[in-house]
Amino acid sequence: MANVSLQKVNKIYGSGPGSVHAVQDLDLDIADGEFVALLGPSGCGKTSTLRMIVGLETITSGHIFFDERDMSRLEPQERNVAMAFETYALYPNFTVEENLAFPLEVRGVDSDVRRKKTEEIAEILQITDILNAFPPELSGGQQQRISLGRALIRDPSVFILDEVMSHLDAHLKFRMLFDLKRLHRELKRTMVYVTHDQVEALALADRVAVMSNAKMQQVGDRNTLYNRPANVFVADFIGEPPTNFFTACVATEDNETRLLVDDSDLVLVPDQSTAGKLRQSGHDKVTAGIRPQNLGLSETPYSLKAEIDINEYLGERSMLTVQNGAATFQSLAPPDMRAGPGEAIQLYYEPSSVMVFDFETEKLIA
Ligand SMILES: Nc1ncnc2c1ncn2[C@@H]1O[C@H](COP(=O)(O)OP(=O)(O)O)[C@@H](O)[C@H]1O
Ligand SMILES: [Mg+2]
Repeated sequence: MANVSLQKVNKIYGSGPGSVHAVQDLDLDIADGEFVALLGPSGCGKTSTLRMIVGLETITSGHIFFDERDMSRLEPQERNVAMAFETYALYPNFTVEENLAFPLEVRGVDSDVRRKKTEEIAEILQITDILNAFPPELSGGQQQRISLGRALIRDPSVFILDEVMSHLDAHLKFRMLFDLKRLHRELKRTMVYVTHDQVEALALADRVAVMSNAKMQQVGDRNTLYNRPANVFVADFIGEPPTNFFTACVATEDNETRLLVDDSDLVLVPDQSTAGKLRQSGHDKVTAGIRPQNLGLSETPYSLKAEIDINEYLGERSMLTVQNGAATFQSLAPPDMRAGPGEAIQLYYEPSSVMVFDFETEKLIA
């Protein structure tokens, strides 16, 4: 077991005009036994980051420490990190038991110990009943567990999973999420789970590290990322449906600060603390954000008037797409909301749910 610390890590592929700066000044601290998800859109540098942790890719600059030990220049076998990929890479002509035991066999572990470890891992992964089967006879979910088991069997200090669920259907995914959580609880290993799917990341991890464009955007628990997103990217990427954004002017009159949304009659009132910070910082143009979940039909003193464009029935909720002038935004309303296109509607919010970002830097002001 180990804590993992990435310090100003950079990865540049190639050199000259065609080079790719895949990871830029990345800092990340993962505590011993913690479960962290590395989340970000495809191409943002997740796989490059974890390949550097494993030692499969050289680090262009920066350092990676396990506990106090600098691992940056060590070979993969000296780091004791296990990695499971999306693809199973199981040996089709080996039984499940032989597949599981293989990493121990290559290391010359004797057969009694091999058998004992295999049984242990099979128990944890609940695949004891298929130890004598061959991979091609098994389902995708079962093959996935065996591949996890094979990565885990040699007691890695750090366990990394790269997009292991991307190809699974929703039902299997749900089971795997549950299995992985249980696995982490039982093994208490330092785990890094890489995904582009925010639902997986938020469901699984103690903390989520959000990457975009080769850079770390924010590291935090679910609550922090959802309620205090560090910038527009995180506010947009975390949460479903995504946050509504408005370009707005800051207007302060008689010590009351309001946000006047461009090209519409919309006015958003932020809470006292946000208003105070806005007055202090002297911003006059901002990007305001409010989540569709925080715009509803239960009355508060604060509301936005709009016209319904689309009313989509989603089962538990209705998703309204509405407009006011040039502003289009969304609200999650109760399922019995019957109003249709063209009807006027008033959507209510609490000032505390209004987020305000710097228009230029896109960073959270308050
Ligand atoms: N071996 C490589 N050589 C050149 N460019 C690469 C290589 N591997 C990845 N890249 C580039 O680095 C960027 C980040 O890729 P990657 O780390 O795989 O992102 P992710 O896993 O988040 O999808 C992408 O632009 C990708 O094309
Ligand atoms: Mg990847």
